[in-house]
Amino acid sequence: MSIKLSSRSDIPVFRVLDILRDVNERVAAGADIIHLEAGQPSVGAPTQAMEKAMKAVMHTPMGYTEATGMPALKKRIAQYYTDEYGVSVDAKNIIITVGGSCGLSLSFLATLDVGDTVAMAAPAYPAYRNILKALGCIPVEIQSTLADNYQPTIATLESLPSIPKGLIIGNPSNPTGTIISKKELAKITAWCQKNGVRLFADELYQGITFGEKCDTVLRTSSEAISINSFSKYFAMTGWRIGWVVLPDDVVDRVKRLCESLFVAPPTLAQHVALHVFDHTDVLDSYVARYKQNLEIMNTELPKAGFTKLSKVGGAFYMYADISDLTDDAEAFCRGLLDGGVAMTPGTDFDLQRGHQTVRMSFAGSTEDIIEACRRINVFMRGWNKKSA
Ligand SMILES: Cc1ncc(COP(=O)(O)O)c(C=O)c1O
Repeated sequence: MSIKLSSRSDIPVFRVLDILRDVNERVAAGADIIHLEAGQPSVGAPTQAMEKAMKAVMHTPMGYTEATGMPALKKRIAQYYTDEYGVSVDAKNIIITVGGSCGLSLSFLATLDVGDTVAMAAPAYPAYRNILKALGCIPVEIQSTLADNYQPTIATLESLPSIPKGLIIGNPSNPTGTIISKKELAKITAWCQKNGVRLFADELYQGITFGEKCDTVLRTSSEAISINSFSKYFAMTGWRIGWVVLPDDVVDRVKRLCESLFVAPPTLAQHVALHVFDHTDVLDSYVARYKQNLEIMNTELPKAGFTKLSKVGGAFYMYADISDLTDDAEAFCRGLLDGGVAMTPGTDFDLQRGHQTVRMSFAGSTEDIIEACRRINVFMRGWNKKSA
């Protein structure tokens, strides 16, 4: 007799991972596919940081660190906020986590109860919805559009049926790459404060911007939670290390959760993270490449027939509304895969309209982006709406 599983764990699969599996199988069988589906840098952390970290840990027992992370790393992150944003953050408000994913879960656990509502723009990173569901909370989606830069605005927040307990923003956003201007962000933090709404700012891609710098909520809010990670700008995806900056009253709750749920974040990864701050020149060269890739896509994709592209200000994603090309983004992506390019259909990111959108990552090499654009152009010439 089978024993019943929890309903809370019955969350959707990440379709992007299914696509990744398909892509990997084809590549293993010899197919030549360019990866615009991957949500990670194609290069690793600066080797100098890894070498220094290895030296530091070679002769230590590599035991647990403090549950909330190494004090030296928290201090270094606090310094980063002063240097990069001119914002003063106290190291005692920082907790080191197992990636931004863990930072999201801990922040929600510490501040939300079962049944609480949390608003977010759609399209959005699908884990927001899924983690909230697993915790018994209720995601409320704001149907955002190209015109509002795929971000929540005061007007769309005001039009919600009721004031939510929380609001999640992705700034810059995955999947659209759009950013919220400094002025608009200050308005959103003020709206949250006025209405007693807990603001969760996913600032994971903040170091990767191409024009206006992406501001942190920590400048204008003492109640907001900033979730961050070494996975993206710092190119340490597989090291599984990130951090959160929390208001005073939330820190102790998250600390207690860390102790019981994870004991401590990975020690080796914390050592690499500590040293990676000394090599931002290498990381900034990655950002310069992303910028070059973005410029190529902004030039080439309209020529290929993409008419509604997100206005990318950061991260390494572009989102395309392809409603004039198909109603079946998954079929479109399967066709394109045969043409040698992998993209992600929007179905993960937007439950209602994702069948008419795709996400493209430009984290790869510039040669790959040029070749991908060429292949997309060839594919689009043969694409016919009726075939979708
Ligand atoms: C917007 C966003 N938030 C959070 C995460 C989780 O990242 P990690 O756990 O690797 O820090 C990702 C990963 O792609 C992401 O895109």
